[in-house]
Amino acid sequence: MGTGDEQGIIETARRAFDANLHGAEFQAVLADDAQLPWLIDGLDPQQGGRYLDLATGNGYVALALAAREPDCQVTGVDIAAAAIATNAEKATAARLGNICFAAVDGIGLPFDDGAFNGVVCRYALHHFPALATTLADVHRVIEQEGRLVVADALRHDADDVDFINRFQALQPDGHVRMHGREALLEICTAQGFALEASQLTAIAFPRPLDAAHRTLLTETAPEIRALYGIAVEGETIRARFTVLNARFRRCDRPS
Ligand SMILES: C[S@@+](CC[C@H](N)C(=O)[O-])C[C@H]1O[C@@H](n2cnc3c(N)ncnc32)[C@H](O)[C@@H]1O
Repeated sequence: MGTGDEQGIIETARRAFDANLHGAEFQAVLADDAQLPWLIDGLDPQQGGRYLDLATGNGYVALALAAREPDCQVTGVDIAAAAIATNAEKATAARLGNICFAAVDGIGLPFDDGAFNGVVCRYALHHFPALATTLADVHRVIEQEGRLVVADALRHDADDVDFINRFQALQPDGHVRMHGREALLEICTAQGFALEASQLTAIAFPRPLDAAHRTLLTETAPEIRALYGIAVEGETIRARFTVLNARFRRCDRPS
């Protein structure tokens, strides 16, 4: 259970993602098969290993992991209960007996200490209202020396007006904060995760152009908009964000 503010953010995210995740637009953005092998390899899946996909959404990472590693047990969790139900149906249709899905609130993980050999979390860290608390709990549920693999969009270092966070906040989906590369790595290492490897990819998505977006674009210098490849085509805005993909090994938390 988080504070009232945290629960409010989580409820907003739950409503938005319950309504949107199944949409074709969302699926076109997130069904990024090219990125998945690097993330899954980063978990270093072991025979009989147990892996958690935190904020699994449509289950792309979890289902790919379960299909590729039939000797592993995979759990996918998310606040979006509708997606969780659909994912379970997809797993049954694909005859995957090594995966399960559960709805969780994202503040406290309902798992034992050291329950997992590794945790993966893609495109969701920016939604956690108490990210340090969530990562501390992730640290708790990973075995010693286990793996954490994250991928999330970055705020550009030259974005001195915090455009990316103002842009994201225009969409009522429980956006909290996108960080720069160094800040995001520091948030993870502060909770007891040692960086092993990283790489940058990109994610691009369209969004309807409404009055609030028009105002923000008008107020924002072209060189800042260019950092995110902002382009307007008719009534649609396209944006392109750099994504940090990072592999960590669980270590002792700094005292
Ligand atoms: C952009 S989607 C990414 C989904 C998935 N990880 C993927 O890469 O396809 C963000 C996901 O984070 C989930 N989410 C947001 N806040 C959460 C929270 N507090 N606890 C658990 N899941 C959360 C949303 O429901 C949504 O499914």
